[in-house]
Amino acid sequence: MGGTLIKFLVLVLVLFFVLNSIHYEVEGGESISEEEDMEIERQLKILNKTPIKTFHSEFGDVIDCIDIYKQPALDHPALKNHKILLRPDNPPTRHTTEKTSSIIDEPKTSGIRPDGIECPKGTVPIRRTTKEDLIRAKSLTKARNGSNASNYYGEHGAILKLDNGYQQFYGINADISTYQPTVYEDEFSTAHMWVVGNAKDEQLNNIQVGLAVHPTLFGDHRLRMFTYWTADGSYKTGCYNFLCHGYVQIHQYFGPGSKPSRISTYDGGHYVNRFFIYQDRKQKVWWLVFTGDTHVGYWPNSIFSGSLSKGFANGLYWGGITKAGSHVGINPAMGSGHYPDGVYGHSGFFHWVQYVNGFNQIIDLKDTPMDAFVDCQWYNITNLGYTSNGNAIYFGGPGGRCPTLSNPAAKMKMQS
Ligand SMILES: *[C@@H]1O[C@H](CO)[C@@H](O)[C@H](O)[C@H]1NC(C)=O
Ligand SMILES: *[C@@H]1O[C@H](CO)[C@@H](O)[C@H](O)[C@H]1NC(C)=O
Ligand SMILES: *[C@@H]1O[C@H](CO)[C@@H](O)[C@H](O)[C@H]1NC(C)=O
Repeated sequence: MGGTLIKFLVLVLVLFFVLNSIHYEVEGGESISEEEDMEIERQLKILNKTPIKTFHSEFGDVIDCIDIYKQPALDHPALKNHKILLRPDNPPTRHTTEKTSSIIDEPKTSGIRPDGIECPKGTVPIRRTTKEDLIRAKSLTKARNGSNASNYYGEHGAILKLDNGYQQFYGINADISTYQPTVYEDEFSTAHMWVVGNAKDEQLNNIQVGLAVHPTLFGDHRLRMFTYWTADGSYKTGCYNFLCHGYVQIHQYFGPGSKPSRISTYDGGHYVNRFFIYQDRKQKVWWLVFTGDTHVGYWPNSIFSGSLSKGFANGLYWGGITKAGSHVGINPAMGSGHYPDGVYGHSGFFHWVQYVNGFNQIIDLKDTPMDAFVDCQWYNITNLGYTSNGNAIYFGGPGGRCPTLSNPAAKMKMQS
């Protein structure tokens, strides 16, 4: 039990670190050396491929349509001879029958807004990486190396974890509510889920997907889909979205950065986007699926170490994370901005919380117990168990002044 707790806390700390990095980098950005500057310019050239077509978003983003066979992911050393997969080979089967009765209070599928970006056939949309993006990404390693514990400062979360120490998982699923919390420029707020595979030592492998308002990542205050992966606890590998090599995009229109087409409101319309990550055991990749059946891309097992490279996960997580910014240590709202009070539509939620088992079946959690981690009084998370919307988790809160723990050890104490 102690060992499991430590593992969990290590993970939480790494996660906090990962999400923290974005803020950290902005400060660090001003002080990069000439050498680092040259390295960044070199990486930019490698990351940004020659586009077939280019779109300019209303917020100043540049979206390039890149030849699917020339996308930056393929520059990953492990993907030298990788043949792009255009469809899955062995998707899991749904084991349970969903939506047996029609429920009045059922949320509607939000869908994904095309954004006016329609890349030509044979190409994929990839947001052009800027120098600022890479400076932010770079400080991941810087922060990781520093012993200065205040790197962790500013991150708080409400998370439920399924990790019983013996079960292996082959996928994770949830309908995530599309609330769009208000955040300031250097803050963020997520609603997401992730699969975790442990490698030796603290080299945590994970793949994270979901929704976030994240101005430093996306340049606006819209709710957007994001991905993150790492093969070593964010020490040297991994990144958000397309900021490094490894994630392979196959969908012509939708991918990391896409916006849900409908935003939920408190006591108003409730909408969800379905996210699904699963291991295709024939192809040996982790597929990313939007809205139930839209395969948008994948992470090859070969970019990971530990269990994710072998095709299974040891832990599954659902929840939200927020980050305080320069606004005097106040963490932003999470989910709808309201605490989970057991009433549907009041707080952010996950419905149809499911995993993929060893028989390649999608399974409801039913009464499987999960562990909660909440480290700020302004958030909470509740496991409702099985409902008419499958296994449901309600989460979030108004945000506010969270404990300013600059010391990871103090965070650990709080948990126990
Ligand atoms: C991090 O620290 C280690 C050991 O102190 C050092 O070898 C390594 O070069 C550092 N990495 C970065 C990116 O600063
Ligand atoms: C750690 O970083 C914080 C903020 O950047 C700074 O104020 C503090 O002096 C640093 N502490 C050490 C021991 O370097
Ligand atoms: C947080 O949620 C848990 C689980 O539902 C509940 O027992 C607890 O009372 C809640 N905490 C607060 C402060 O509302």
